[in-house]
Amino acid sequence: MNLVHRWLCSSGRWRRTVEQHVVPWVLDGLDLGPHVLEVGPGYGAATDVLRARLPHLACVEIDPSLARGLARRGGPGCVDVLCGDATALPLPSAAFDAALCFTMLHHVAPRERQDRLLQEVARVLRPGGVFLGVDSLASPWLRRLHWFDTLEPVDPSTFAERLRVAGFARAEVALNPYAFRFRAWKAAG
Ligand SMILES: C[S@@+](CC[C@H](N)C(=O)[O-])C[C@H]1O[C@@H](n2cnc3c(N)ncnc32)[C@H](O)[C@@H]1O
Repeated sequence: MNLVHRWLCSSGRWRRTVEQHVVPWVLDGLDLGPHVLEVGPGYGAATDVLRARLPHLACVEIDPSLARGLARRGGPGCVDVLCGDATALPLPSAAFDAALCFTMLHHVAPRERQDRLLQEVARVLRPGGVFLGVDSLASPWLRRLHWFDTLEPVDPSTFAERLRVAGFARAEVALNPYAFRFRAWKAAG
């Protein structure tokens, strides 16, 4: 992430937005189960909301300094932070009830690596497990924010099909003016 992006993702304003709007929209009406994975937690804005509600949370973050910072931070619940690449998850198959990612997919480029990430998440979910997330819609503002940074926006109109191709039996995508939310379920077995 570039410096502006780092400042934004670690800001109190972003943390409040994630807590009050983003996480409630993503989780709305769903029960995650006891074993949950978050990919790309960054500074942990969503992690801190999730850890207060879950018995155990595992996180996979590719940036070593962000992973170290998150691992050192205290807080409620039990959080295991792994430094690793979500396109090759260092985790066993069928180990999680749910997996989540918040505004991170557009940081994975090219699109083929995004698809590998979707396949990896499908692999580590148990049968019937759910993958939830949110990402920003492409816009001039998003492009400015990613100046000298990775940006591979996700097209919400094709994303449900990409989730199905990656191994999910059912997928839903919903939009608001700034972002899209997705939910995808692995076949029950
Ligand atoms: C824009 S930040 C979002 C952070 C956090 N989810 C939030 O909403 O505040 C994207 C994060 O995804 C991480 N990331 C990018 N590619 C990744 C990958 N292949 N595996 C794991 N994490 C990745 C980045 O290092 C960064 O911390």
